[in-house]
Amino acid sequence: MPNKDSVTLIDNRTGKEVELDLLKPTSGPMTIDISRLYKELGYFTYDPGFMATASCWSNITYLDGGKGILEYRGYPIEQLAEKSTFLETCYLLLNGDLPGKNELEAFQEKINTHNMLHEQLKTFYSGFRRDAHPMATMVGVVGALSAFYHDDEDVHDASDRMDAAHRLIAKMPTIAAWSYRYAMGMPFVQPRNDLGYAENFLHMMFSMPSSEYKVDPTMAKALDIILILHADHEQNASTSTVRLAGSSQANPFAVLASGIASLWGPAHGGANEAVIQMLTEINESDKDLAHFIDRAKDKEDRFRLMGFGHRVYKNYDPRAKIIREICHEMLENNPVSNPEHQALLDTAMELEKIALEDDYFKSRNLYPNVDFHSGIIFLGMGIPLNMFTVLFALGRTVGWVSQWNEMMGDPKGKIGRPRQLYTGESTRDYKEITKR
Ligand code: SDX
Repeated sequence: MPNKDSVTLIDNRTGKEVELDLLKPTSGPMTIDISRLYKELGYFTYDPGFMATASCWSNITYLDGGKGILEYRGYPIEQLAEKSTFLETCYLLLNGDLPGKNELEAFQEKINTHNMLHEQLKTFYSGFRRDAHPMATMVGVVGALSAFYHDDEDVHDASDRMDAAHRLIAKMPTIAAWSYRYAMGMPFVQPRNDLGYAENFLHMMFSMPSSEYKVDPTMAKALDIILILHADHEQNASTSTVRLAGSSQANPFAVLASGIASLWGPAHGGANEAVIQMLTEINESDKDLAHFIDRAKDKEDRFRLMGFGHRVYKNYDPRAKIIREICHEMLENNPVSNPEHQALLDTAMELEKIALEDDYFKSRNLYPNVDFHSGIIFLGMGIPLNMFTVLFALGRTVGWVSQWNEMMGDPKGKIGRPRQLYTGESTRDYKEITKR
């Protein structure tokens, strides 16, 4: 009698049966362990885009797309957004639980130790065109950190891995802000240890040597919450990229650069920038919203409702709900100085309303995701459009390094090496050029 925590696969071609173990998670669906399948039946499995494939085990983040649940180390995102800070959330993701007062102070101290950049890194910026997209600069400069921290980094040493994690969390705000300052032709501003994480970033972005600059505390608070919401998200494309790149035991800074590159795409983290471009296109067009909704449904048209849909959430993205509230609060408290931003928000709200009532979107469970409203908040903060995905990378860095650290700490870890369904030519002999 097969054990109940298993499934039996019958090969209809040969009649052979194989019993595969069912792995029981803390939360989420039971998972079939197919690692013996190829050995037992000689078959691969095929799941393009990994729609239903668990690439790893993880203790870090749990999400339930059907119920719109997101938890970091078991803590619901709604509670962390309301009660925690981004720095405390970084400690939680990296270390597994919320820090005590002394632990948090020591962590803050650790991050402060590493938030400056090597003076020579400044020269890397001048190699970029002034109009380079800041994500291009981020990929380059973060990758370049691997030239500064390599020889004394042992990815198999837990303490070295923690050092790399602290350095990346600490340096990303400086690298990100300097990407903006370089593009604007403004002098780099050094981090300050008397400021909070989000506050320090805004200080490095907007302060000028010629005058006193005070960060708006409501803006710093809104950004801190947005960073919490972006901190981690299970095995999304960029995190899977980090895991795969890191599985070859590569330098962690180079590995993080691969995650930034993957996040940049408009189907992923680049969507927040693409949402504003879409809303602007709509507002500048003489066509009505129905025209764009129809285009989004037209398979022949590449136009999609950016900020809508999600591989996992088939319900409202819980992060989108929180960001939507921040968006409204910010625009209510600070009447938008720029009527264009208000017009974008009005269009976003109208688009959301129409889409949520439309059968095409309802039948496909297409809801606003984390990127739908975040861009409007960033605009309200004076963050330029091409910096939106940089801010996503700023938040997600702790998720990437936490997932990388978890993978590298697994004594049974292996290099990631997926197989394929080969559909190319059968074996054939070389043809001399005279015969082609
Ligand atoms: C992020 O994975 C993560 O966790 C990512 C993320 C994170 O925190 O790391 O949450 C961050 O990347 C959020 C997603 C940001 N991207 C966008 O907003 C871009 C617009 N969204 C789509 O490109 C799309 O929804 C994806 C890429 C997000 C998800 O694509 P899937 O899961 O591969 O779904 P699909 O393309 O198979 O779509 C299913 C159906 C299709 O129609 P049918 O073939 O069934 O007829 O829904 C349609 C799609 O055409 N569809 C859309 C749509 N998204 C899906 N139609 C119009 N507009 C859209 N936005």
